Amino acid sequence: DGDVYKYYGDGEWKKCASGKSVAIINPTTRKTQYKVQACSQEEVNKVMEIAKAAQKSWAKTPLWKRAELLHKAAAILKEHKFPIAECLVKEIAKPAKDSVTEVVRSGDLVSYCAEEGVRILGEGKFLVSDSFPGNERTKYCLTSKIPLGVVLAIPPFNYPVNLAVSKIAPALIAGNSLVLKPPTQGAVSCLHMVHCFHLAGFPKGLINCVTGKGSEIGDFLTMHPGVNCISFTGGDTGIAISKKAGMIPLQMELGGKDACIVLEDADLDLVASNIIKGGFSYSGQRCTAVKVVLVMESVADALVEKVKAKVAKLTVGPPEEDSDITPVVSESSANFIEGLVKDAKEKGATFCQPYKREGNLIWPLLLDHVRPDMRIAWEEPFGPVLPVIRINSVEEGIHHCNASNFGLQGCVFTRDINKAMLISDAMETGTVQINSAPARGPDHFPFQGIKDSGIGSQGITNSINMMTKIKSTVINLP
Ligand code: G3P
Repeated sequence: DGDVYKYYGDGEWKKCASGKSVAIINPTTRKTQYKVQACSQEEVNKVMEIAKAAQKSWAKTPLWKRAELLHKAAAILKEHKFPIAECLVKEIAKPAKDSVTEVVRSGDLVSYCAEEGVRILGEGKFLVSDSFPGNERTKYCLTSKIPLGVVLAIPPFNYPVNLAVSKIAPALIAGNSLVLKPPTQGAVSCLHMVHCFHLAGFPKGLINCVTGKGSEIGDFLTMHPGVNCISFTGGDTGIAISKKAGMIPLQMELGGKDACIVLEDADLDLVASNIIKGGFSYSGQRCTAVKVVLVMESVADALVEKVKAKVAKLTVGPPEEDSDITPVVSESSANFIEGLVKDAKEKGATFCQPYKREGNLIWPLLLDHVRPDMRIAWEEPFGPVLPVIRINSVEEGIHHCNASNFGLQGCVFTRDINKAMLISDAMETGTVQINSAPARGPDHFPFQGIKDSGIGSQGITNSINMMTKIKSTVINLP
């Protein structure tokens, strides 16, 4: 059936036995763009077994050979940047240029991961016993890093390629095998990416990609006894997964409500351009988007004017035309955003632009004079709507930031580095950016959230380490 994209298991493209499929709706046209296989639990079981078997010999494959294959996959991925980007445009309405950037960034990530892996996995530790009280120098301990087994990778819709390879590459270099479950929106981009790994010539069964309905195979995958590690990026589902998963390492990147604290001495032009980039790129559909501006009252009018002027210049339209603001991923997402906007309206927020929506396309909207009783002060719209809360002290800003159940990133704008450092220390977030909008990259930087924003730390080095376990051998002298 040429209409339905096949899933990938045991090194082959397969149809699911039931003949069922899942439709992928183009957010712009709101019509079915692609279809993927609706895999069953039996098919998941099969893939798990295959992944388990393939991992054994992969773990014995020399590290330099694993790296060589990853470099090859990275090059192929970059060669295929245009067709993959086209899928991103159709499936998740990511602007055309950003879609190409996502693929290129992914290739770079895979290469960097191969290089980092050969270095950090190429060395272990040597310890001697007589440093601990009561011991003679009679025990030598040698440590190395061994793989965990089968890694379950679940990327989100907003970076289906990049946040898939940020899990796949570290898992592979560390000697693990993979079962990938792509998001529905983004599944075809993921399958294309997997095809690049297929072309690179990885052993059969090492990388597997199952598509299907979360309701049917979601819990089944995350609770599967064959899974030895879960790396998940997404929303609240991650909290549920972490409660249900077994005794295995978890890497979770969930939501965020990244605050942008603006002090009186800040360079307001710099702030305004970072608010635009941070709040509105990919229409606000990034975990690390600026999701609330906390600005000192004395500079608030001036800042709002500058941001307003820049919002007016944002282009709004289809992703094919590389518009700045494109339709949000689904109708339910657009409805949710609209709910937040209505709530803010009822409670008296100042609309810097009129609210406008056509289908899934929502025009960029800056809401001034937002107060803590409004939902938008706390909830993440994942859309092009940005609240501004005016504060009278830095403490008030820090308090708002820390009262959130999220703690992904935050940023502070000031020319006073001492103040910036104190504020960074006080903000309960995984990262604080000084004088720039929050962002995950460069991809080798540590990336982590606290509270409901996640478990563990990502970034290339941390992910490789997280997907391994320490193994010790102790030589006992007579
Ligand atoms: O939303 C996913 C999160 O990882 C953001 O990444 O690169 O947009 O900061 P980035």
